[in-house]
Amino acid sequence: MKKFVALIAMVAFLGLAVVAFGTLVGPTGDIKVEMPDGAKKPAVTFSHAKHAVPVPDCKTCHHSFKGEGQPQKCSECHKAKKDGKKPGIKNAAHKTCRGCHRAMKKAGKKTGPTPCKGCHKK
Ligand code: HEC
Ligand code: HEC
Ligand code: HEC
Ligand code: HEC
Repeated sequence: MKKFVALIAMVAFLGLAVVAFGTLVGPTGDIKVEMPDGAKKPAVTFSHAKHAVPVPDCKTCHHSFKGEGQPQKCSECHKAKKDGKKPGIKNAAHKTCRGCHRAMKKAGKKTGPTPCKGCHKK
């Protein structure tokens, strides 16, 4: 019985460790960037794993993330239209995503796409 309790405790502990690491590395597969209401272009899908590995700083993209729990979706704050200081989803995403790809390309490094169709796939 003692062994059984210890096993349960261990499983529970490992479970927690996995959750903790899962939160740190972010989603491991492809992820669709959610569109706010009123968007027309096909939503962009990209490999979160490829991004979170060479860019371990979550704040590069999740700039409002405090490091606890889950970062919020961009569309929770960035809507179809700009709102005061908050750019609309198009400018927010393009500045972050395309901005980095462009800068890396200029520096001659291997990076992600810069033409529209490279990200907005039908
Ligand atoms: C590096 C990737 C990337 C490239 C290149 C890119 N976009 Fe986007 N774009 C995004 C992301 C991410 C969003 C946020 C919306 C989403 O997919 O959830 C977005 C949003 C938009 C939106 C706002 C959503 C809508 O449908 O109203 C428009 C319009 C748009 N892009 C047009 C373009 C055009 C035109 C080009 C080429 C000149 C382009 N994009 C190139 C990643 C990209
Ligand atoms: C290159 C940009 C980028 C980097 C770096 C990045 N993320 Fe993300 N992440 C995104 C985007 C974009 C989404 C989709 C959010 C949306 O739909 O608005 C996302 C989604 C997520 C989600 C799912 C959120 C949900 O509601 O489904 C989690 C969790 C997450 N990221 C955690 C992390 C963690 C932890 C790190 C740092 C290790 C990280 N991310 C680094 C861009 C990035
Ligand atoms: C909790 C709300 C919130 C979330 C979630 C959020 N943003 Fe923002 N974002 C803001 C606000 C507010 C601003 C206005 C400037 C500031 O206060 O930083 C902003 C500004 C920006 C800017 C302009 C910064 C500049 O220097 O011009 C970019 C680019 C941006 N966000 C991209 C993103 C992307 C990409 C995501 C998702 C990965 C995201 N944001 C998620 C609230 C948010
Ligand atoms: C800090 C720089 C940086 C930022 C920010 C960034 N990328 Fe990338 N992106 C890269 C690099 C580097 C690669 C090449 C990774 C590889 O192939 O291993 C890449 C590859 C890609 C690819 C092709 C591989 C794949 O993931 O399917 C897509 C699509 C892409 N990025 C979309 C995006 C989107 C959408 C965003 C914004 C949410 C974004 N990127 C933000 C650097 C960046």
